Amino acid sequence: MSSVPGADQIIIFDTTMRDGEQSPGASMNLSEKLRIAHILEEMRVDVIEAGFPIASDGDFEAVNEVAKLVKNSKVCGLARSSKIDIERCAEAVKPAVQPRIHTFISTSPLHMKYKLQMEPEDVHAAVINSVTYARNFTDDVEWSCEDGSRTEHDFMCRTVESAIEAGAATINIPDTVGYAVPDEFGGLIEMLFNRVPNIDKAIISVHCHNDLGLAVANSLAAVKAGARQVECTINGLGERAGNAAMEEIIMALKTRHDSMPYTSNIKTEYITKASRLVSTVTGFTVQPNKAIVGANAFAHESGIHQDGMLKNAQTYEIMTPESVGLTESKLVMGKHSGRHAFRQKLAELGYDLGDNAIQDAFKRFKDLADLKKDVYDEDIIALVDDTVVRSNDTIQLVSLEVLCGTEHRPPRASLSLCIDGEEKSTETSGDGPVDAIFTGIKVLTSQTPHLQLFQVQAVTQGTDAQAEVTVRLEENGKTVNGQGADTDTMVAAARAYINALNKLLIKRKKTIPAALST
Ligand code: KIV
Ligand code: ZN
Repeated sequence: MSSVPGADQIIIFDTTMRDGEQSPGASMNLSEKLRIAHILEEMRVDVIEAGFPIASDGDFEAVNEVAKLVKNSKVCGLARSSKIDIERCAEAVKPAVQPRIHTFISTSPLHMKYKLQMEPEDVHAAVINSVTYARNFTDDVEWSCEDGSRTEHDFMCRTVESAIEAGAATINIPDTVGYAVPDEFGGLIEMLFNRVPNIDKAIISVHCHNDLGLAVANSLAAVKAGARQVECTINGLGERAGNAAMEEIIMALKTRHDSMPYTSNIKTEYITKASRLVSTVTGFTVQPNKAIVGANAFAHESGIHQDGMLKNAQTYEIMTPESVGLTESKLVMGKHSGRHAFRQKLAELGYDLGDNAIQDAFKRFKDLADLKKDVYDEDIIALVDDTVVRSNDTIQLVSLEVLCGTEHRPPRASLSLCIDGEEKSTETSGDGPVDAIFTGIKVLTSQTPHLQLFQVQAVTQGTDAQAEVTVRLEENGKTVNGQGADTDTMVAAARAYINALNKLLIKRKKTIPAALST
């Protein structure tokens, strides 16, 4: 259970599954959200914002299931100021040990006039009514003034004071459009502490977007000014340029404790695992030079740096790779490794799979070990993720053969799929081998969604590395990401496309009301 924070304790509020998922293309399905929630809880994130329950049945279900799963973090859902939003949110978070309702309304002149088309007095009344109403369902209500950084100070003070009076225990000040700069944003928080009479009755939170690349700097400036909750996301995922990256906030606080004497509950060794999972699920690869979680964040290329590192790692390393959970790629097992050792390895890597899933993964591990001399932790992770993501698929790949190269024009694919238990086959050609495969899948399934992204990454180094492919499909404005991994890039591509199609089929079944803007 998260403890009541001390004066220098920073509450970490993760919104990867809410604001993060709002970023175009970053959709996550229920089982993916549950896996992310599990890691966030293991990391000791204080508050997990799992979604926006009114937005769709899928969002409601995800918040509800996360609320049932998570025991040690608070589980939060987002709601606009209307009763129906708040009721839906309350229902979704109800099973949580520590449920939170996060309600918001815009307070800037621009948003009130054009987006809400409401007078400030009506917005003020909506603040009081929404917080009061939300308090009927839980003691833990957070209120946000959307577009806070462009809100007039007098009006912000009035609304913040009223929200606290109405029972909000947390007041969140968002820099919704990533417009603020650090001195100014810290000054805004300081202004609230100086002017709002009941400010000591609430925790002040900040939620910064990264449009000018200042989300982390603004959040830390706010912490210095008295904010004690930071809203952030893994890998900085989020609307447009994203939100403040959790890993950067956490490691900045930890590494520069001398300058920022604040602590958090986060177990930093889980950072790399969380980053990889979010990247795999969303298909949003992390840039190599990204702070903390980029592939090069702890790599030393130049001779001078390598020489310094050998003499003393602190010459060029301000934090250790181990502190963020980055360990050397380990050779795990070969083709003679048994089921018991495989099970142990899975447990070590943090997987808790049922017997059937272990059996499937073990079979694939044996196949991989036959093909690939060295099997690393990363291989096992890719293979297990691949097995887990497709365990419930109604469309499955049975076989694939591709003819391509200088002698085979146009490239051809012979493909067999099992669709709802029935095996179907076809042979198709295309502009390239991937095009031929995808055309074949479309022919067999009669599905023609728009392909938005096709991305290939090597799981480890070497020409025998597994390829991890992400495919993003779009249909009527809704996107899904599919993943596939295999030593054969074409097989991985087929698996990824099929996985995305399966997700699309599930998504279609769920009702999605008119688009909502936050
Ligand atoms: O950016 C924003 O203002 C938000 C609020 C809903 C907190 O995401
Ligand atoms: Zn936001």
